[in-house]
Formats: sequence, structure tokens, C-alpha cells
Amino acid sequence: RIVYVNGDYLPEEEAKVSVFDRGFLFADAVYEVTSILDGKIIAFDGHAKRLKRSLDELQMQNPISTEDLLEVHHQLVKRNELTEGMIYLQISRGNPGDRDFAFPSEDVTPTIVLFTQTANLLNNPKVATGMKVISVDDQRWARRDIKTTQLLFPSMAKMMAKAAGVDDAWMVEDGHVTEGSSNNAYIVKDGKIITRNLGHEILHGITRAAVLAYAEAAQMQIEERPFTIDEAKKADEAFITSASTFVMPVVEIDGVALGDGKPGKSSLRLREIYLEESL
Ligand code: PDD
Repeated sequence: RIVYVNGDYLPEEEAKVSVFDRGFLFADAVYEVTSILDGKIIAFDGHAKRLKRSLDELQMQNPISTEDLLEVHHQLVKRNELTEGMIYLQISRGNPGDRDFAFPSEDVTPTIVLFTQTANLLNNPKVATGMKVISVDDQRWARRDIKTTQLLFPSMAKMMAKAAGVDDAWMVEDGHVTEGSSNNAYIVKDGKIITRNLGHEILHGITRAAVLAYAEAAQMQIEERPFTIDEAKKADEAFITSASTFVMPVVEIDGVALGDGKPGKSSLRLREIYLEESL
């Protein structure tokens, strides 16, 4: 694989980042995951905009212009002959030379890393069966709207799901669902799509924004508000969205089957619309 590190395209074995990098020591880093379908970059502008917002919220310098960033994406797709999969991008505050909690002075250059990952996104076998989830207590920090690389709790939640023999975990705070381990969560009741409103509690999903816009254009009803895990278990259907899963049906929560236990109509329709519009 050819990866990108601080301006250079290198074979992955030759790519190096310092052990003093704050991304490594403090998870002082932000990231984006953008999907590639048919060699095409999906929703680049949305990801670039959110990246900028994450950097601003953490007062981190942006080491690359949006134009150059798009070119790096194109180069990585080309150099790796990537037709379907993801591009991972990470910017960390860089290497101040020592371990110190305080942010370093402005002359420390951020570290930027991008790499590709091949994946079968379109023909994901989970679409046919739907995903099963369990609920877990949301133990992440309170600024989930910033896309940082502090992902230990979501990893642990994913392991709890695995141990329970299911696909993912929906995180719950004060009885209300925030989001999935790495995706936004939705339920459908009486034809209405319900998903948590934006705030510091959840990541502002790029796929979420697109899907809600398409749902509105298709005259589907939308309610953006917190919903409880109990309300979710009584829903007709449920689904998640993310750059790597698009729209993915959820058919079971904590062992409770939703509707007839099969992927819901609205979920499948939204997946179809999203892919039609994105491709
Ligand atoms: N995760 N919520 C969380 C906590 C996420 O980590 C993600 C994305 C989303 C969906 O956002 P988007 O639609 O912009 O991908 C919601 C990526 C895919 C990841 O960490 O791999």
C-alpha cells in the first residue's frame, strides 16, 4: 500500500511518525473516514468541512488546504488502484519533542497521515439480514461532535457487542440513545424517522445530513429529538448511517426483534436513495 505522510507518498513500510507525536501519546488528533465507490470519492466536501470544524474546536492548525487534500485523496485512489473501500485521514498536533500535557507552541507542525483500506461496501451481506445491537452505557467524553481519535470506549463497546454475539452497540445516556459505536442511530415509528438532534452528544454525521435531506425530498416525515432505548425497542424499524455502512438496517435491540425482525421498508428505501444519489 502507498500511504501519505506529511507531504510524501511512501510504501507503508517506510512511513514513519515520531513516538513523541501527540496523536500517539494523548490521542490529540482528529480524523475522517471517506468512502470510495467505483473509484469515486463520496461526500468529500462534507468531510473536509467537518475536519476543519474539528481542528478549529481543538485550536489545532490545519496543515493542508482543502484543494491539496482532495488531490491527496485522488492520488491515493490512483496509486493504490482503489475501486471500493475507504480513505482514512488523521491530523495530530505533531511532535513537540517531549511529553507535556500543555499544547506546544504554534511552530510545531501537525502530523498528517492518509491511507486507503479496501472493503466490500456495496454488497455488504448485513443488508439482507439486518444488524443486531445491544445497548451499553455511553462512557465517552462529552464532546462527541469533535471527531477525535480517542476511540477506546467505542472499541470496548464493539467488544461487548461481539461478546454478546451481536453486530454493534447503541450507546445510552440518561436513558436516551446517543449513537452507535461508529455510526448515527435512527428508529422508524408509524412512518416517521426519529433520530437524535445535533449537539455535543453525537458526531454530526456526513451521511446523516445527506440521508435526512434525501428523506425530506422524498416527503418522509422526520423528527430530530432524543429517543429512549425503550422507545427504540417498540419501534417498527431501525437503522444506522455512516460513511462505511451508508444506511444499514437494525433488526434487533437487546434481544427484542423490531417489527417482523427483518430489515425495514423505510431503511431499505433510504439505502437505495442514498446510493443512487451518491454514485
Ligand atoms: N465513524 N457517529 C460516530 C461516533 C462515528 O464514529 C461515525 C463515523 C458516525 C457517522 O458519521 P459519518 O456519516 O460522517 O461517517 C457517527 C467512522 C465511519 C469511523 O470511525 O470509522
